[in-house]
Amino acid sequence: AGADFDLFRTTEEHDMLREAVRSLAEAKIAPFAAEVDEQGRFPHEALEALQGSDLHAVHVPEEFGGAGADALATVIVIEEVARVCASSSLIPAVNKLGSLPVQLSGSPELKAKYLGALARGEGMFSYCLSEPDAGSDAAGMKTRAVRDGDFWVLNGVKRWITNAGVSEFYTVMAVTDPEKRSKGISAFVVEKGDVGVTFGAPEKKLGIKGSPTREVYLDNVRIPADRMIGEEGTGFATAMKTLDHTRVTIAAQAIGIAQGALDYAAGYVKERKQFGRPIGDFQGVQFMLADMAMKLEAARQLTYAAAARSQRVSHGGAHEDLTFFGAAAKCFASDAAMEITTDAVQLLGGYGYTRDYPLERMMRDAKITQIYEGTNQIQRIVMARNLP
Ligand code: CAA
Repeated sequence: AGADFDLFRTTEEHDMLREAVRSLAEAKIAPFAAEVDEQGRFPHEALEALQGSDLHAVHVPEEFGGAGADALATVIVIEEVARVCASSSLIPAVNKLGSLPVQLSGSPELKAKYLGALARGEGMFSYCLSEPDAGSDAAGMKTRAVRDGDFWVLNGVKRWITNAGVSEFYTVMAVTDPEKRSKGISAFVVEKGDVGVTFGAPEKKLGIKGSPTREVYLDNVRIPADRMIGEEGTGFATAMKTLDHTRVTIAAQAIGIAQGALDYAAGYVKERKQFGRPIGDFQGVQFMLADMAMKLEAARQLTYAAAARSQRVSHGGAHEDLTFFGAAAKCFASDAAMEITTDAVQLLGGYGYTRDYPLERMMRDAKITQIYEGTNQIQRIVMARNLP
């Protein structure tokens, strides 16, 4: 019974990791967060700081030279980075999303080559599933891969690709048998330097402005056949299994952003005086803070419960349980983050609405967590199909 109860608290190692990442994030990432947002530039200071501490792709197992963080430790890293800068938290998060297909289904050679390169900081990894006309209906993709001797030739357009252009490596899902819909999709590793790979103009977004989102164009990209991840026709299942794990990391971003907003607002109401006293003395303000903290804690507990499922799967546990929990954590935590950041702006009044304070940025950054890695409407479909 003791082991079951352990689910409800973090270990001392996890707590120490949180402290270490929090001080790194406050010293090396927070100072650039406003500038990165304002200028819409990649947070290279964050990449350097995270790589310097081996936190840029913490999930990579030790056997491939990675830090070997478990699913909860990965959540904690993402959470603490997102607390100060959501754009920077996409470095460890998208490195996991992009590389997990290789880790779950790749050949030993692919794992050694690409997980090793990722762990050593030789390049980041992006994930290419969505297309201009295939978002929620991911299996409706058009990108084609055709076999040619010892090669596959890829043609198509991938859209909404996080960190496109800055990443060296791309997991690309493509149709290898158009007759079979989801069973005719295969996954491949494509490199930025492969001939025929180019990128669209960066999207002009509401938030996460420091993380470039671009189209990826594949124009007769000819790659060796051993770059296929797993068996032909298993690419869609691999892509979905990956999302089951990484939706937990989106939940982590959401609770990190929400914690940042709550911390800031809770400090502000103690200083801000109106009617002769700090506004935090008023019960109307206290009730708002109480609701924000309650929702955040509920979201965090669900996220950690999902991380525990993700970890069990990595150790041979059943996958079904994770599908519901990953979707539920992502959906619940992102909705909570949107509410909490909106209320935090409200607590600062007119100041909250200006760029002189970080809360409007946090509110804009929170919005994407309700959309990417499957909209919250899609999460409800996934939950309904996989009720616990
Ligand atoms: N685990 C393992 N296999 C799975 C699976 C899962 N969770 N879900 C589906 N599969 C497999 C199954 O083998 C299934 O075949 P069976 O019939 O044998 O069971 C096959 O895939 C097809 O599954 P469905 O019939 O359920 O497929 P569907 O077309 O109805 O789609 C969906 C299901 C849940 C709607 C799916 O399309 C989906 O998740 N859509 C949202 C896509 C998404 O999240 N996109 C985000 C892109 S990533 C991103 O945002 C980029 C970024 O950079 C941040």
